[in-house]
Amino acid sequence: MEQPWPIINLNSVSSTNNYASQLLSENKIVEETVIMAYKQEHGRGQQDNIWESEPGKNLTFSLVLFTNFINARKQFTLSHCVSLAIVDYLRINDLKAKIKWPNDIFVDDNKIAGILIENSILDKTLQHSIVGIGLNVNQEKFSDRATNAVSMKKLLSKDFVLQEVLKSLLDCIKNWIDFLKTNNYQDLKKEYLDNLYGFGEMKKFISKKVEFQGTIIEVEETGELVILADNGRIQKFMFKEIQFL
Ligand code: BTN
Repeated sequence: MEQPWPIINLNSVSSTNNYASQLLSENKIVEETVIMAYKQEHGRGQQDNIWESEPGKNLTFSLVLFTNFINARKQFTLSHCVSLAIVDYLRINDLKAKIKWPNDIFVDDNKIAGILIENSILDKTLQHSIVGIGLNVNQEKFSDRATNAVSMKKLLSKDFVLQEVLKSLLDCIKNWIDFLKTNNYQDLKKEYLDNLYGFGEMKKFISKKVEFQGTIIEVEETGELVILADNGRIQKFMFKEIQFL
């Protein structure tokens, strides 16, 4: 496949998402672009977490997409696509990855990739999206703060060439964005649920300090997680409102 997007390779940057946001605010991004960094000084994770990554060992990049084909209420569909693309890429490499709602990528009980999507909305549609991805590739040791982190190298005992990983992963992302453009939500959701960690299984959760057991039965277009709790009630949760235990 032809290279789907041009790539800007940076040596050191605060955060590729911040860099992309800065370029967008200065109208300096005229076409969809990938910003890849050897090193991030302040890599950002979800919920104000820090994203740690040893310089030169992993993929830390942001893809700037013009997403006015996505209704603002359905912005989570983009996260479906990106999660599925990472799962696809890992499957090509014989790693059975799963999506842990909303969009963490796990192999067994360990996190191998994280996604931070920042959308700007104009009227009722997205205007552009900064899709930040951290994929652990060649890093072997992780800090005590990242106890459940894992990398492709740790799982497969070999090194990968980062630019090749990036290219293949971008191909997978392009495929899923094309899928989003040409299919309805039901089709996309089916794929997402098929690859969702814990779907249809009894799991333990915590919400507002209350622990409970339940089964994930649905994920809405808005991103809401729908759980059938063991008390028989169906409950819906937005991001940050619930955690797996
Ligand atoms: C998570 O918390 O799981 C999301 C992690 C996202 C990390 C990536 S690395 C590239 C991009 N730039 C950032 O500052 N964060 C994202």
